[in-house]
Amino acid sequence: MRILLLGHTGQLGWELRRTLAPLGEVSALDYPDIDLTQPDSVRGTIREARPELIVNATAYTAVDRAEQEPETALAINGLAPGVMAEEARRLGAALIHYSTDYVFDGRLGRPYVESDAPHPLGVYGESKLAGERAVQAAGGAYLILRTSWVYSTRRRNFVLSVLEWARSQTRLRIVSDQAGNPTWARMLAEASAQLAARGDLDIAAFLEERGGLYHLAGDGYASRLEWAKAALRYDPHKEQQVTREIQPASTADFPTPAERPLFSALNCDKFANTFGLRLPPWEAALRLALEAG
Ligand SMILES: NC(=O)c1ccc[n+]([C@@H]2O[C@H](COP(=O)([O-])OP(=O)(O)OC[C@H]3O[C@@H](n4cnc5c(N)ncnc54)[C@H](OP(=O)(O)O)[C@@H]3O)[C@@H](O)[C@H]2O)c1
Repeated sequence: MRILLLGHTGQLGWELRRTLAPLGEVSALDYPDIDLTQPDSVRGTIREARPELIVNATAYTAVDRAEQEPETALAINGLAPGVMAEEARRLGAALIHYSTDYVFDGRLGRPYVESDAPHPLGVYGESKLAGERAVQAAGGAYLILRTSWVYSTRRRNFVLSVLEWARSQTRLRIVSDQAGNPTWARMLAEASAQLAARGDLDIAAFLEERGGLYHLAGDGYASRLEWAKAALRYDPHKEQQVTREIQPASTADFPTPAERPLFSALNCDKFANTFGLRLPPWEAALRLALEAG
């Protein structure tokens, strides 16, 4: 299978480059080889590569900065995925794309299913929702995986921040009123590759039939405080921690430019029922991630 992976230096893209490798020839590109703010760059790259499968791991993920740069966020998250989906359809190829729990406002009070109405609270969520809709509107073979609270042992993320704070601060205050599904990027990349492998003979036909919009995130949900405590528990270098006390805080204690949904946990049953796959429980995956380093 000829696979075009976009965004291979990101948390998810880094893992996808490895998990997709056994499936065929993977061309992996990132900025500046391809610039998602330029539709012609996206179109030209895809036409030249002529992939059978496009996997889009790029995104403008700076949730707060997006409030000041709505045009850039919309170009990368909202418009570029539509161009990818159009080009995929033109080539008879398939597209795997990722979205976010931030398309929801977090006020429902139970984990969200795919048919729940989205209502983003900020520019990032709006731009990602626009991307979902652009992919759906293009009408080709696609899979949109909405995920949440992605971390890895690379780049910047909540888990690495907590471990860093624990090495310099004796007391931590962590938000306890936001809940979501912590998702190890590697597990999401593994599941994505397993699906692609099932459609190996004709990935476009496979996703035409069984594709669509699915939730896929670490199994179960947690508050940020529970997530942070687990990270400290499974820290492979606990001896470096100086933190002696962890206190709960509320979202209102840390004002940010973008409002976050408070309870944006995702129900992933539709994906499990359709494909027979579920990501591991979030805490077990976190333990493995920190052991793997
Ligand atoms: N992170 C989360 O907590 C989270 C939560 C829910 C959903 N998601 C979704 O999961 C997916 C993967 O997220 P992630 O955490 O892996 O993201 P990430 O680590 O921020 O990586 C994003 C990738 O996009 C690339 N990129 C950004 N702007 C670009 C541009 N103009 N042209 C070309 N490439 C560009 C980045 O390149 P550089 O290396 O040059 O920056 C990087 O490779 C995204 O769809 C995201 O919306 C993430």
